[in-house]
Amino acid sequence: MDGSRRIALTRRSLLRNGALGLASFYCDLGTATPSSVRTSAAKRAVAGSPFEPFRTELPLPPVLRPVRRTRSADHYVVTMRETHAELLPGFDTPVYAYEGIVPGPTIRARAGRRVMVEQRNALGETTNVHLHGARAPASSDGHPRDVIPAGASRLYDYPNRQAGATLWYHDHTHHRQAETVYKGLAAFYLVREDLEDELELPRGSYELPLMIADKSFNADGSLRYERDLNNGFLGDTMLVNGAVQPCVRVERQRYRLRFLNASNARDLELSLSDGSAMTQIASDGGLLPRSTRQRRIRLSSAERVEVVVDFRLYRPGTKLILRNLLGSGSTASVMRFDVVRSGAEDFGPVPRTLKPMRRLPRVSAVRDVVLDRAVIPQVEWQLNGLGFDMDRIDTRARLGTTELWRFVNRSTHVHPMHIHGFFFRVLARGSRRPPASERGWKDTVRVDPNETVTVMPYFSGYPGAYVYHCHKLEHGDNAMMAQMEVTA
Ligand code: C2O
Ligand code: CU
Ligand code: CU
Repeated sequence: MDGSRRIALTRRSLLRNGALGLASFYCDLGTATPSSVRTSAAKRAVAGSPFEPFRTELPLPPVLRPVRRTRSADHYVVTMRETHAELLPGFDTPVYAYEGIVPGPTIRARAGRRVMVEQRNALGETTNVHLHGARAPASSDGHPRDVIPAGASRLYDYPNRQAGATLWYHDHTHHRQAETVYKGLAAFYLVREDLEDELELPRGSYELPLMIADKSFNADGSLRYERDLNNGFLGDTMLVNGAVQPCVRVERQRYRLRFLNASNARDLELSLSDGSAMTQIASDGGLLPRSTRQRRIRLSSAERVEVVVDFRLYRPGTKLILRNLLGSGSTASVMRFDVVRSGAEDFGPVPRTLKPMRRLPRVSAVRDVVLDRAVIPQVEWQLNGLGFDMDRIDTRARLGTTELWRFVNRSTHVHPMHIHGFFFRVLARGSRRPPASERGWKDTVRVDPNETVTVMPYFSGYPGAYVYHCHKLEHGDNAMMAQMEVTA
C-alpha cells in the first residue's frame, strides 16, 4: 500500500467514527505536504525533511478481514512478500511485509473463538511466523524449527483459549529475525474478552494500538541496518505504526492506548510531556488485577503495556508529546497527541479492580537461567553457558504445573526475557516485590544488568517444545535462546 492509500485509510477510519467538522479532523501538521501533491518527487520537494517530527498523521493498520467464517473459526490468509512502503513522506522504502503493508494488518480475535491463519511465503527466503503472547499448540507457535520454505505456506491454529490481550505476530527465523522483523514483518493481533466490554473500556476509535520501533534510513529512503551483537540495533528515528513521530488528533475523551515496543533492541521509558500519570490497565497477558497510575512506563523489546489516558483534562488545542525518557535528540520523542473538542461518546472511569488473579498450583521446580556473554570461541550470548541448539532440550516441565525461574543477569546489558506458549507472574526484582505495573500476567520481562528477576511460569496450555529467549533480536539470533519440552 502506498502512502496516499495509507493516509486515505486513516482518514476513512476517522470519517467512520468522528462526528466532528472537517476543520478539526487532522492534527496540526504545520506546513506538511498538502494532500493534493501526489507524486513522490513532488511530495519530497514540499515536505522538507522527512524526519521532522509530528508532520504525519498516525496511521492505523487496517483490520484484516477473514476469508471465511465458520461456526467454529475465523479463517485468514496472509501473504508475506517484498514490497515498498512509504515510511518516510515521499520515499519508497523496500520492506518485507504482511499483506504488503508495514506494520502488517491487525487480526482481531475473541477469547475462546478459534482463528486459523494461512501464511503464504512469497518472500525469496525461508521464514516462519510466531504469534507472540499466544497460548497455541506447539506446532502453531512459530518455533524456529518450523520454517516455511520460499513459495510454501503454513496453516497456523490459534484457539485463543486465553485472556484478552495485545499480541503481535512477527518473523522468527533463527539467525534472521533481527533483520526480517526490522524490515517490516510485525503486526498486531488483538484478543478481546467480555470483561473488557463490561468494564466499559474505551473502544472503537478511542482505542489506539501503537507499535513503536526505531529505524535508520539511508539517503535514498531505504532502511539502514547495522549489526551490533552487543547492544543490538539502535536506530536514530522513532516510528509509530510505520510513520516517523506521527501525531494524532484525540477528542477530549478517555482513550485506551496499547503500547508495543517492536524495536529490535531499544528500551523505552514513555511519559507524557506534561508529566501527568497514565492509568495502566494491562500488561503482556491482559488486564492487571488492579489498575495503577504510572507517570513513566518502561517498555523493553516485545513488552506491551496498555493505559487509559483521560484527554478530557486538556483544553482543545493542547499538544501533548509522548516522550521517551531513555532517548536523546531524535529518539527522545515518540509521537504527539493533539487534543480537539469533545465528541459524543463517553467512557466511564477506569475501576481500581480489574481482574482477580486466579490461584495457582504450588511450585514444583526451581531453576536458574543465567544470562551472560561468551567471547571464546566466538562472541555470543548464552543461557546457562550455552548458545541455542534446536536439537537440544534444555528444560523439561509438566503441563499444569508452576515453577520458579530465576533470570540471573551476569552481564552489563538489559535482557528482556521471553517465554513462548505460556504466561508467567513476576515475583521479585532482586529481593523486592515487582512494581504494580508488573503484577499481572507477563510473557516478557526486563532483566537489568546484574539483576536477578524471579518469575513464576504457569504451564497451562499445550504440550510440546517451545523456546524461551532474550527478545533483543540480535541477542536471540546469536544465540540467547533455549528450548523447553512441556509434557502432559
Ligand atoms: Cu516475540 Cu520468540 O518472540
Ligand atoms: Cu513469543
Ligand atoms: Cu539480551
